[in-house]
Amino acid sequence: MPDVSSGDPAGFDRYGVIGYPVSHSRSPVIHQLFALQTGQQLRYELLQVAPEKLEQAVRQFQRTGGKGLNVTVPHKTAVTDLCDQLSERAEQAGAVNTLAFQDGEIFGDNTDGIGLTRDLEWNLGFPLQGRRILILGAGGAALGIVGPLLARRPAALVVANRTRDRADAVVKRFGHGMLSACAFDDVPAEAPYDLVINATSAGLKGETPPYPDAAVGAGTLCYDLSYGSKPTPFMLWSRDQNAGAAVMGWGMLVEQAAESFHLWRGIRPSTAPVLKQIVVSA
Ligand code: ATR
Repeated sequence: MPDVSSGDPAGFDRYGVIGYPVSHSRSPVIHQLFALQTGQQLRYELLQVAPEKLEQAVRQFQRTGGKGLNVTVPHKTAVTDLCDQLSERAEQAGAVNTLAFQDGEIFGDNTDGIGLTRDLEWNLGFPLQGRRILILGAGGAALGIVGPLLARRPAALVVANRTRDRADAVVKRFGHGMLSACAFDDVPAEAPYDLVINATSAGLKGETPPYPDAAVGAGTLCYDLSYGSKPTPFMLWSRDQNAGAAVMGWGMLVEQAAESFHLWRGIRPSTAPVLKQIVVSA
């Protein structure tokens, strides 16, 4: 007999991604590929929900037997208020990208940062310990990655932002000796950084702000948290600076999804084949 408590006639457990807009999301494809690979039976939906309807939509999904949600722009911060419990990394980031519904409670986690560090270390073979790292941007995307990057013990982690106050607020929040803040035109660049991460949303608007040229050299890996079928403005800028390598965040996308899948299903899918498939079809 089908499990009617799941709210799905076929008895499949229900998951989804909630965002606004969300139609472009690759999460349904990624999770279906994970499910196929691991023999899990689940459905994964797109939930396009405006900010004022967030609570209503999450509670309805929960009430109708949904098991978990990914949360994307612009809900990652607001959704923390709906959680009964937060993981330590979600608490640190002040943002949630994964919800799990269990026993009438909502658990909030943030797998973005671990998605990034795994892509860098496992997929790209770039160990983070002892590296000098520069993050461009100090919004929600930056907050999600600072904790997991610090945990990898870099030699320095600098947060540079157009608006200096927001970079200062990030440093204050984490209060870590390795972390410092500055404005774009004030980046300490005695030598190029090993890793420069674009965590601004400038590229989404097609903008290329005056990023700090001196931060990038022939040995620098430039990593854009954004991704697309064509190189992002930050990728093009990085190439103009003759960066050692320039990478978009497809790997982070797939790795953060794998961590969410693991939280929900207790099984870790292998990411390499899925990453290959996603990038080819982009
Ligand atoms: P997200 O959750 O994507 O991080 P956000 O919290 O709105 O979104 O933060 C956007 C980030 O991109 C901020 O660091 C923002 O800089 P400001 O704090 O100065 O606004 C940065 N950003 C967006 N557009 C930018 C632009 N054209 N030039 C430089 N920085 C930009």
